[in-house]
Amino acid sequence: MSDVAKLILDGKEYEFPITVGSEQERGIDISTLRARTGHITLDQGYGNTGSCQSAITYIDGDKGILRYRGIPIEQFANGPNFIEVAWLLIFGRLPDETEYRSFADELTHEANIDEGMRHHFDSFPRKAPPMAILASMVSALSCFHPEFMDLTDEERFCAAAARLISKIRTIAAFAYRHAKGLPYIYPDPNLKFVHNFLHMMFSMPYDQFICDDLVRDALNLILILHADHEQNCSTSTVRMVGSSQANLFASCSAGIGALWGPLHGGANVAVLQMLEKIHNGNLTPEEYVKLAKDKESGVRLMGFGHRVYKNFDPRAKLIGDIANELLPRLGVHDPLLDIARRLEEIALEDPYFIERNLYPNVDFYSGIILRAIGIPTDMFTVIFAIGRLPGWIAHWWEQNQAPSRIARPRQIYVGNGMTDYTPMPGRK
Ligand code: SDX
Repeated sequence: MSDVAKLILDGKEYEFPITVGSEQERGIDISTLRARTGHITLDQGYGNTGSCQSAITYIDGDKGILRYRGIPIEQFANGPNFIEVAWLLIFGRLPDETEYRSFADELTHEANIDEGMRHHFDSFPRKAPPMAILASMVSALSCFHPEFMDLTDEERFCAAAARLISKIRTIAAFAYRHAKGLPYIYPDPNLKFVHNFLHMMFSMPYDQFICDDLVRDALNLILILHADHEQNCSTSTVRMVGSSQANLFASCSAGIGALWGPLHGGANVAVLQMLEKIHNGNLTPEEYVKLAKDKESGVRLMGFGHRVYKNFDPRAKLIGDIANELLPRLGVHDPLLDIARRLEEIALEDPYFIERNLYPNVDFYSGIILRAIGIPTDMFTVIFAIGRLPGWIAHWWEQNQAPSRIARPRQIYVGNGMTDYTPMPGRK
Protein backbone atom coordinates (compact mmCIF):
# COMPACT_ATOMS: atom_id res chain seq x y z
CA MET A 1 0.00 0.00 0.00
CA SER A 2 1.24 3.50 -0.80
CA ASP A 3 2.82 5.60 1.96
CA VAL A 4 1.65 8.84 0.35
CA ALA A 5 -1.71 10.25 -0.72
CA LYS A 6 -1.92 12.38 -3.85
CA LEU A 7 -4.30 15.30 -4.20
CA ILE A 8 -4.85 17.14 -7.46
CA LEU A 9 -6.09 20.72 -7.04
CA ASP A 10 -6.47 23.14 -9.94
CA GLY A 11 -4.25 20.90 -12.04
CA LYS A 12 -1.47 20.79 -9.46
CA GLU A 13 -0.56 17.54 -7.69
CA TYR A 14 0.24 17.46 -3.98
CA GLU A 15 1.54 14.53 -1.93
CA PHE A 16 0.71 13.98 1.75
CA PRO A 17 2.35 11.33 3.95
CA ILE A 18 0.27 8.43 5.29
CA THR A 19 0.68 7.62 8.98
CA VAL A 20 0.14 3.98 9.94
CA GLY A 21 -0.89 3.06 13.50
CA SER A 22 0.20 -0.02 15.46
CA GLU A 23 -3.01 -1.80 14.40
CA GLN A 24 -2.44 -0.79 10.76
CA GLU A 25 -4.98 2.08 10.85
CA ARG A 26 -4.02 4.53 8.11
CA GLY A 27 -4.32 8.32 8.30
CA ILE A 28 -3.47 10.96 5.71
CA ASP A 29 -1.37 13.60 7.48
CA ILE A 30 -2.78 16.90 6.19
CA SER A 31 -0.97 19.16 8.68
CA THR A 32 0.59 21.10 5.77
CA LEU A 33 -2.56 21.19 3.60
CA ARG A 34 -3.61 24.82 4.12
CA ALA A 35 -0.10 26.24 3.94
CA ARG A 36 0.55 24.44 0.65
CA THR A 37 -2.87 24.54 -1.03
CA GLY A 38 -4.87 27.32 0.65
CA HIS A 39 -7.59 24.74 1.28
CA ILE A 40 -8.86 23.18 4.52
CA THR A 41 -10.87 19.97 4.92
CA LEU A 42 -14.50 19.96 6.09
CA ASP A 43 -15.78 17.01 8.14
CA GLN A 44 -18.98 17.72 10.12
CA GLY A 45 -18.82 15.70 13.38
CA TYR A 46 -15.20 14.67 12.65
CA GLY A 47 -16.31 11.19 11.50
CA ASN A 48 -13.32 11.02 9.15
CA THR A 49 -10.83 13.12 11.09
CA GLY A 50 -8.17 11.97 13.54
CA SER A 51 -7.42 14.60 16.19
CA CYS A 52 -4.29 12.93 17.57
CA GLN A 53 -2.22 9.79 17.83
CA SER A 54 -2.93 7.95 21.08
CA ALA A 55 -1.62 4.79 22.77
CA ILE A 56 -4.37 4.46 25.37
CA THR A 57 -7.35 2.66 23.81
CA TYR A 58 -7.89 0.76 20.59
CA ILE A 59 -11.31 0.21 19.03
CA ASP A 60 -12.09 -1.79 15.91
CA GLY A 61 -15.70 -0.82 15.25
CA ASP A 62 -16.19 -3.40 12.51
CA LYS A 63 -14.95 -6.30 14.61
CA GLY A 64 -16.36 -5.06 17.93
CA ILE A 65 -12.90 -4.89 19.53
CA LEU A 66 -12.09 -2.66 22.55
CA ARG A 67 -8.67 -2.83 24.26
CA TYR A 68 -7.20 -0.72 27.08
CA ARG A 69 -3.44 -0.40 26.55
CA GLY A 70 -3.73 -3.53 24.35
CA ILE A 71 -5.70 -5.64 26.86
CA PRO A 72 -9.14 -6.77 25.53
CA ILE A 73 -11.90 -5.60 27.88
CA GLU A 74 -13.28 -9.15 28.05
CA GLN A 75 -10.22 -10.00 30.18
CA PHE A 76 -11.35 -7.56 32.86
CA ALA A 77 -14.64 -9.40 33.38
CA ASN A 78 -13.41 -11.53 36.29
CA GLY A 79 -10.39 -9.89 37.64
CA PRO A 80 -9.02 -6.51 38.40
CA ASN A 81 -10.68 -3.75 40.31
CA PHE A 82 -11.45 -0.41 38.81
CA ILE A 83 -8.47 1.32 40.42
CA GLU A 84 -6.00 -1.13 38.88
CA VAL A 85 -7.53 -0.50 35.43
CA ALA A 86 -7.48 3.26 36.08
CA TRP A 87 -3.74 3.02 36.80
CA LEU A 88 -3.26 0.95 33.60
CA LEU A 89 -5.02 3.56 31.47
CA ILE A 90 -3.21 6.53 33.01
CA PHE A 91 0.33 5.14 33.29
CA GLY A 92 0.32 2.73 30.33
CA ARG A 93 0.96 -0.60 32.08
CA LEU A 94 -0.45 -2.70 34.91
CA PRO A 95 0.85 -1.56 38.32
CA ASP A 96 3.01 -3.85 40.44
CA GLU A 97 1.86 -4.59 43.99
CA THR A 98 3.73 -1.62 45.51
CA GLU A 99 2.50 0.86 42.90
CA TYR A 100 -1.07 -0.39 43.23
CA ARG A 101 -0.99 -0.28 47.03
CA SER A 102 0.47 3.23 47.11
CA PHE A 103 -2.11 4.55 44.61
CA ALA A 104 -5.03 2.82 46.36
CA ASP A 105 -3.87 4.12 49.76
CA GLU A 106 -3.71 7.66 48.36
CA LEU A 107 -7.28 7.34 47.08
CA THR A 108 -8.40 6.11 50.50
CA HIS A 109 -6.58 8.92 52.27
CA GLU A 110 -7.90 11.58 49.91
CA ALA A 111 -11.54 10.46 49.64
CA ASN A 112 -12.94 13.29 51.71
CA ILE A 113 -13.62 16.78 50.39
CA ASP A 114 -12.86 20.10 52.04
CA GLU A 115 -15.63 21.18 54.43
CA GLY A 116 -15.84 24.39 52.41
CA MET A 117 -16.83 22.27 49.40
CA ARG A 118 -19.37 20.38 51.46
CA HIS A 119 -21.14 23.64 52.32
CA HIS A 120 -21.57 24.35 48.58
CA PHE A 121 -24.01 21.44 48.36
CA ASP A 122 -26.42 23.18 50.74
CA SER A 123 -26.78 26.07 48.27
CA PHE A 124 -27.86 23.89 45.33
CA PRO A 125 -31.63 23.47 44.83
CA ARG A 126 -32.79 19.97 45.89
CA LYS A 127 -33.85 19.28 42.32
CA ALA A 128 -30.57 20.45 40.79
CA PRO A 129 -29.41 17.98 38.10
CA PRO A 130 -26.62 15.86 39.65
CA MET A 131 -24.52 16.30 36.48
CA ALA A 132 -24.65 20.09 36.99
CA ILE A 133 -23.47 19.67 40.58
CA LEU A 134 -20.75 17.23 39.50
CA ALA A 135 -19.37 19.57 36.82
CA SER A 136 -19.44 22.52 39.25
CA MET A 137 -17.81 20.72 42.13
CA VAL A 138 -15.10 19.05 40.04
CA SER A 139 -14.20 22.49 38.72
CA ALA A 140 -14.34 23.84 42.28
CA LEU A 141 -11.53 21.42 43.19
CA SER A 142 -9.31 24.00 41.43
CA CYS A 143 -10.23 26.43 44.24
CA PHE A 144 -9.42 24.03 47.08
CA HIS A 145 -6.31 22.41 45.56
CA PRO A 146 -4.25 25.26 44.03
CA GLU A 147 -1.18 23.07 44.47
CA PHE A 148 -2.40 21.02 41.49
CA MET A 149 -2.86 23.83 39.01
CA ASP A 150 0.54 23.25 37.44
CA LEU A 151 1.08 19.54 36.75
CA THR A 152 4.42 19.19 35.03
CA ASP A 153 6.01 16.43 37.08
CA GLU A 154 4.57 12.92 37.20
CA GLU A 155 4.51 12.63 40.98
CA ARG A 156 2.35 15.74 41.43
CA PHE A 157 0.16 14.65 38.48
CA CYS A 158 -0.30 11.23 40.11
CA ALA A 159 -1.35 12.92 43.38
CA ALA A 160 -3.87 15.09 41.52
CA ALA A 161 -5.23 12.09 39.61
CA ALA A 162 -5.68 10.10 42.82
CA ARG A 163 -7.53 12.96 44.48
CA LEU A 164 -9.82 13.49 41.51
CA ILE A 165 -10.67 9.79 41.06
CA SER A 166 -11.33 9.45 44.78
CA LYS A 167 -13.22 12.67 45.39
CA ILE A 168 -15.56 12.44 42.39
CA ARG A 169 -17.21 9.53 44.24
CA THR A 170 -17.73 11.65 47.34
CA ILE A 171 -19.06 14.56 45.29
CA ALA A 172 -21.46 12.22 43.47
CA ALA A 173 -22.69 10.65 46.70
CA PHE A 174 -23.11 14.02 48.41
CA ALA A 175 -25.13 15.28 45.42
CA TYR A 176 -27.45 12.29 45.84
CA ARG A 177 -27.75 12.78 49.61
CA HIS A 178 -28.47 16.50 49.19
CA ALA A 179 -31.21 15.75 46.64
CA LYS A 180 -32.80 13.32 49.13
CA GLY A 181 -32.45 15.65 52.11
CA LEU A 182 -30.30 13.03 53.82
CA PRO A 183 -27.27 13.61 56.05
CA TYR A 184 -23.91 13.35 54.27
CA ILE A 185 -22.14 10.06 54.95
CA TYR A 186 -18.40 10.56 55.02
CA PRO A 187 -16.03 8.09 53.30
CA ASP A 188 -14.95 5.13 55.41
CA PRO A 189 -11.18 4.43 55.07
CA ASN A 190 -11.79 0.74 55.76
CA LEU A 191 -13.84 0.26 52.60
CA LYS A 192 -12.58 -0.26 49.03
CA PHE A 193 -13.47 2.07 46.18
CA VAL A 194 -16.90 0.79 45.06
CA HIS A 195 -18.06 -0.28 48.51
CA ASN A 196 -17.07 3.11 49.92
CA PHE A 197 -19.10 4.85 47.20
CA LEU A 198 -22.20 2.74 47.92
CA HIS A 199 -21.65 3.35 51.64
CA MET A 200 -21.67 7.14 51.08
CA MET A 201 -24.76 6.75 48.89
CA PHE A 202 -26.88 4.42 51.01
CA SER A 203 -25.69 4.20 54.63
CA MET A 204 -27.38 6.11 57.42
CA PRO A 205 -25.58 7.46 60.53
CA TYR A 206 -27.27 4.71 62.53
CA ASP A 207 -27.31 2.00 59.84
CA GLN A 208 -24.24 1.00 57.80
CA PHE A 209 -25.02 -0.11 54.21
CA ILE A 210 -24.26 -3.82 53.73
CA CYS A 211 -22.75 -4.28 50.29
CA ASP A 212 -23.60 -7.50 48.46
CA ASP A 213 -20.39 -8.77 46.79
CA LEU A 214 -22.32 -9.32 43.57
CA VAL A 215 -23.48 -5.69 43.55
CA ARG A 216 -19.96 -4.49 44.32
CA ASP A 217 -18.47 -6.60 41.53
CA ALA A 218 -21.19 -5.58 39.05
CA LEU A 219 -20.60 -1.88 39.67
CA ASN A 220 -16.83 -2.41 39.59
CA LEU A 221 -17.11 -3.98 36.13
CA ILE A 222 -19.51 -1.29 34.91
CA LEU A 223 -16.98 1.39 35.92
CA ILE A 224 -14.20 -0.54 34.15
CA LEU A 225 -16.27 -0.88 30.97
CA HIS A 226 -16.92 2.87 30.95
CA ALA A 227 -13.30 3.81 31.75
CA ASP A 228 -12.16 4.87 28.28
CA HIS A 229 -13.27 4.88 24.68
CA GLU A 230 -10.61 6.75 22.63
CA GLN A 231 -11.72 10.08 21.10
CA ASN A 232 -15.42 10.11 22.05
CA CYS A 233 -17.15 13.45 22.47
CA SER A 234 -16.33 14.00 26.16
CA THR A 235 -12.73 12.79 25.92
CA SER A 236 -12.15 15.00 22.88
CA THR A 237 -13.57 17.86 24.95
CA VAL A 238 -11.11 17.15 27.77
CA ARG A 239 -8.24 17.12 25.26
CA MET A 240 -9.51 20.29 23.60
CA VAL A 241 -9.73 22.17 26.92
CA GLY A 242 -6.44 20.69 28.15
CA SER A 243 -4.72 21.85 24.95
CA SER A 244 -5.02 25.45 26.22
CA GLN A 245 -3.06 24.26 29.31
CA ALA A 246 -6.18 24.57 31.45
CA ASN A 247 -5.74 22.54 34.62
CA LEU A 248 -6.83 18.91 35.06
CA PHE A 249 -9.91 19.72 37.17
CA ALA A 250 -11.22 22.35 34.72
CA SER A 251 -10.60 20.01 31.76
CA CYS A 252 -12.46 17.08 33.37
CA SER A 253 -15.30 19.38 34.42
CA ALA A 254 -15.72 20.26 30.73
CA GLY A 255 -15.77 16.54 29.92
CA ILE A 256 -18.65 16.10 32.38
CA GLY A 257 -20.62 18.74 30.50
CA ALA A 258 -20.08 16.97 27.16
CA LEU A 259 -20.96 13.56 28.64
CA TRP A 260 -24.29 14.91 29.92
CA GLY A 261 -25.86 15.08 26.43
CA PRO A 262 -28.48 12.39 25.58
CA LEU A 263 -26.60 11.46 22.41
CA HIS A 264 -23.57 10.61 24.57
CA GLY A 265 -23.43 9.60 28.23
CA GLY A 266 -26.93 10.90 28.89
CA ALA A 267 -28.23 8.06 26.71
CA ASN A 268 -28.39 5.70 29.70
CA VAL A 269 -30.99 8.00 31.25
CA ALA A 270 -32.82 8.29 27.92
CA VAL A 271 -32.90 4.48 27.61
CA LEU A 272 -34.66 4.14 30.98
CA GLN A 273 -37.13 6.88 30.06
CA MET A 274 -37.81 5.04 26.77
CA LEU A 275 -38.34 1.71 28.56
CA GLU A 276 -40.60 3.34 31.18
CA LYS A 277 -42.66 5.00 28.44
CA ILE A 278 -43.22 1.59 26.86
CA HIS A 279 -43.85 -0.05 30.23
CA ASN A 280 -46.42 2.57 31.20
CA GLY A 281 -48.44 1.42 28.23
CA ASN A 282 -47.92 4.43 26.05
CA LEU A 283 -46.43 2.30 23.29
CA THR A 284 -45.63 -1.37 22.58
CA PRO A 285 -42.00 -2.26 21.75
CA GLU A 286 -43.09 -2.82 18.16
CA GLU A 287 -44.74 0.62 18.00
CA TYR A 288 -41.67 2.28 19.50
CA VAL A 289 -39.31 0.66 17.01
CA LYS A 290 -41.63 1.78 14.22
CA LEU A 291 -41.42 5.35 15.53
CA ALA A 292 -37.63 5.16 15.81
CA LYS A 293 -37.46 4.27 12.12
CA ASP A 294 -39.60 7.23 11.14
CA LYS A 295 -37.37 10.27 10.58
CA GLU A 296 -40.32 12.60 11.11
CA SER A 297 -40.91 11.29 14.63
CA GLY A 298 -37.67 12.72 16.04
CA VAL A 299 -37.56 9.51 18.11
CA ARG A 300 -34.46 7.32 18.29
CA LEU A 301 -34.02 3.87 19.76
CA MET A 302 -31.87 5.10 22.64
CA GLY A 303 -28.95 2.88 23.55
CA PHE A 304 -28.70 1.76 19.93
CA GLY A 305 -26.18 2.79 17.31
CA HIS A 306 -22.66 4.11 17.53
CA ARG A 307 -20.35 6.34 15.52
CA VAL A 308 -17.59 3.74 15.60
CA TYR A 309 -19.15 0.32 16.30
CA LYS A 310 -20.81 -1.05 13.18
CA ASN A 311 -21.07 -4.34 15.00
CA PHE A 312 -21.98 -5.22 18.58
CA ASP A 313 -20.50 -2.83 21.16
CA PRO A 314 -18.46 -5.38 23.17
CA ARG A 315 -19.36 -3.51 26.36
CA ALA A 316 -23.09 -3.95 25.69
CA LYS A 317 -22.61 -7.71 25.58
CA LEU A 318 -20.69 -7.80 28.88
CA ILE A 319 -23.15 -5.43 30.56
CA GLY A 320 -26.05 -7.52 29.24
CA ASP A 321 -24.39 -10.56 30.85
CA ILE A 322 -24.11 -8.70 34.17
CA ALA A 323 -27.84 -7.86 34.03
CA ASN A 324 -28.73 -11.49 33.26
CA GLU A 325 -26.71 -12.69 36.26
CA LEU A 326 -27.28 -9.93 38.81
CA LEU A 327 -31.05 -9.41 38.68
CA PRO A 328 -32.05 -13.05 39.33
CA ARG A 329 -29.36 -13.32 42.06
CA LEU A 330 -30.87 -10.22 43.71
CA GLY A 331 -34.35 -11.65 43.27
CA VAL A 332 -35.21 -8.66 41.09
CA HIS A 333 -37.59 -9.12 38.17
CA ASP A 334 -37.53 -5.84 36.28
CA PRO A 335 -40.15 -5.70 33.50
CA LEU A 336 -37.99 -3.06 31.83
CA LEU A 337 -35.34 -5.72 31.21
CA ASP A 338 -37.92 -7.83 29.36
CA ILE A 339 -38.88 -4.78 27.30
CA ALA A 340 -35.20 -4.04 26.53
CA ARG A 341 -34.66 -7.62 25.40
CA ARG A 342 -37.79 -7.43 23.18
CA LEU A 343 -36.61 -4.16 21.62
CA GLU A 344 -33.22 -5.70 20.91
CA GLU A 345 -34.84 -8.79 19.40
CA ILE A 346 -37.06 -6.72 17.09
CA ALA A 347 -34.34 -4.26 16.04
CA LEU A 348 -31.74 -6.92 15.30
CA GLU A 349 -34.12 -8.53 12.81
CA ASP A 350 -35.28 -5.27 11.24
CA PRO A 351 -33.68 -4.24 7.91
CA TYR A 352 -33.67 -0.57 8.97
CA PHE A 353 -31.26 -1.30 11.84
CA ILE A 354 -29.38 -4.02 10.00
CA GLU A 355 -28.69 -1.81 6.95
CA ARG A 356 -27.44 1.00 9.20
CA ASN A 357 -25.36 -1.31 11.40
CA LEU A 358 -27.25 -0.24 14.51
CA TYR A 359 -26.60 -2.48 17.53
CA PRO A 360 -27.02 -2.05 21.29
CA ASN A 361 -24.31 0.19 22.75
CA VAL A 362 -22.87 0.57 26.23
CA ASP A 363 -25.93 2.49 27.42
CA PHE A 364 -28.61 0.01 26.44
CA TYR A 365 -28.50 -2.27 29.50
CA SER A 366 -26.42 -0.31 32.03
CA GLY A 367 -29.40 1.56 33.44
CA ILE A 368 -31.24 -1.69 34.21
CA ILE A 369 -28.36 -2.76 36.45
CA LEU A 370 -27.99 0.61 38.15
CA ARG A 371 -31.72 0.62 38.84
CA ALA A 372 -31.50 -2.87 40.37
CA ILE A 373 -28.68 -1.59 42.65
CA GLY A 374 -30.99 1.23 43.78
CA ILE A 375 -29.27 4.08 41.95
CA PRO A 376 -31.86 6.61 40.70
CA THR A 377 -32.12 7.38 36.98
CA ASP A 378 -30.81 10.93 37.31
CA MET A 379 -27.57 9.50 38.74
CA PHE A 380 -26.89 7.12 35.83
CA THR A 381 -24.75 9.55 33.84
CA VAL A 382 -22.94 10.48 37.05
CA ILE A 383 -21.91 6.82 37.35
CA PHE A 384 -20.77 6.95 33.73
CA ALA A 385 -18.62 10.01 34.61
CA ILE A 386 -17.05 8.24 37.61
CA GLY A 387 -16.14 5.39 35.27
CA ARG A 388 -14.88 7.61 32.43
CA LEU A 389 -12.74 9.84 34.63
CA PRO A 390 -9.55 7.71 34.44
CA GLY A 391 -9.81 7.79 30.64
CA TRP A 392 -10.16 11.57 30.63
CA ILE A 393 -7.17 11.88 32.99
CA ALA A 394 -5.10 9.49 30.83
CA HIS A 395 -5.81 11.47 27.66
CA TRP A 396 -5.16 14.80 29.37
CA TRP A 397 -1.80 13.54 30.60
CA GLU A 398 -0.89 11.88 27.28
CA GLN A 399 -1.56 15.14 25.45
CA ASN A 400 0.26 17.27 28.02
CA GLN A 401 3.30 14.97 27.93
CA ALA A 402 3.81 15.48 24.22
CA PRO A 403 4.68 18.90 22.83
CA SER A 404 1.27 19.91 21.54
CA ARG A 405 -0.39 22.99 20.14
CA ILE A 406 -3.65 24.55 21.29
CA ALA A 407 -6.53 22.86 19.46
CA ARG A 408 -8.06 25.39 17.10
CA PRO A 409 -10.09 23.96 14.16
CA ARG A 410 -10.79 26.11 11.08
CA GLN A 411 -14.19 26.71 9.44
CA ILE A 412 -15.82 27.53 6.13
CA TYR A 413 -17.57 30.90 6.60
CA VAL A 414 -21.07 31.05 5.09
CA GLY A 415 -22.32 34.29 6.67
CA ASN A 416 -22.84 37.85 5.37
CA GLY A 417 -20.34 39.54 3.11
CA MET A 418 -18.84 42.91 4.16
CA THR A 419 -21.71 44.87 5.77
CA ASP A 420 -21.75 48.47 7.13
CA TYR A 421 -23.05 49.32 10.58
CA THR A 422 -26.35 51.26 10.52
CA PRO A 423 -27.02 53.52 13.49
CA MET A 424 -30.21 52.70 15.50
CA PRO A 425 -32.51 55.52 14.28
CA GLY A 426 -32.10 54.48 10.66
CA ARG A 427 -32.70 50.82 11.32
CA LYS A 428 -35.88 49.07 10.08
C1 SDX B 1 -21.97 6.78 23.87
O1 SDX B 1 -18.29 7.90 20.79
C2 SDX B 1 -18.28 7.09 21.78
O2 SDX B 1 -17.38 6.30 21.95
C3 SDX B 1 -19.43 7.22 22.75
C4 SDX B 1 -19.54 6.17 23.84
C5 SDX B 1 -18.39 6.24 24.80
O3 SDX B 1 -18.10 5.23 25.44
O4 SDX B 1 -17.86 7.38 25.00
O5 SDX B 1 -19.58 4.90 23.26
C6 SDX B 1 -20.80 6.37 24.68
O6 SDX B 1 -22.19 7.94 23.71
C7 SDX B 1 -22.79 5.70 23.22
C8 SDX B 1 -23.90 6.28 22.31
C9 SDX B 1 -25.08 6.66 23.21
N1 SDX B 1 -26.12 7.36 22.38
C10 SDX B 1 -27.27 6.77 22.11
O7 SDX B 1 -27.56 5.62 22.40
C11 SDX B 1 -28.25 7.68 21.39
C12 SDX B 1 -28.90 6.92 20.24
N2 SDX B 1 -27.89 6.71 19.21
C13 SDX B 1 -27.78 7.68 18.17
O8 SDX B 1 -28.25 8.96 18.38
C14 SDX B 1 -26.59 7.52 17.26
O9 SDX B 1 -26.52 6.20 16.93
C15 SDX B 1 -25.23 7.99 17.76
C16 SDX B 1 -25.29 9.39 18.24
C17 SDX B 1 -24.76 7.11 18.86
C18 SDX B 1 -24.27 7.89 16.59
O10 SDX B 1 -24.66 8.82 15.70
P1 SDX B 1 -23.96 8.95 14.24
O11 SDX B 1 -22.78 8.09 14.09
O12 SDX B 1 -23.82 10.40 13.97
O13 SDX B 1 -25.03 8.26 13.33
P2 SDX B 1 -26.07 9.07 12.50
O14 SDX B 1 -26.83 9.97 13.42
O15 SDX B 1 -25.38 9.65 11.32
O16 SDX B 1 -27.08 7.90 12.03
C19 SDX B 1 -26.82 7.15 10.85
C20 SDX B 1 -28.21 6.63 10.45
C21 SDX B 1 -29.25 7.75 10.34
O17 SDX B 1 -30.23 7.31 9.44
P3 SDX B 1 -30.12 7.78 7.86
O18 SDX B 1 -30.05 9.29 7.85
O19 SDX B 1 -28.86 7.11 7.34
O20 SDX B 1 -31.39 7.22 7.22
O21 SDX B 1 -28.72 5.76 11.46
C22 SDX B 1 -29.88 6.33 12.05
C23 SDX B 1 -29.86 7.79 11.70
O22 SDX B 1 -31.19 8.33 11.68
N3 SDX B 1 -29.76 6.11 13.50
C24 SDX B 1 -30.76 5.76 14.29
C25 SDX B 1 -30.20 5.59 15.56
N4 SDX B 1 -28.88 5.87 15.51
C26 SDX B 1 -28.61 6.20 14.22
N5 SDX B 1 -32.09 5.56 14.05
C27 SDX B 1 -32.85 5.19 15.11
N6 SDX B 1 -32.37 5.02 16.37
C28 SDX B 1 -31.04 5.21 16.62
N7 SDX B 1 -30.58 5.03 17.85
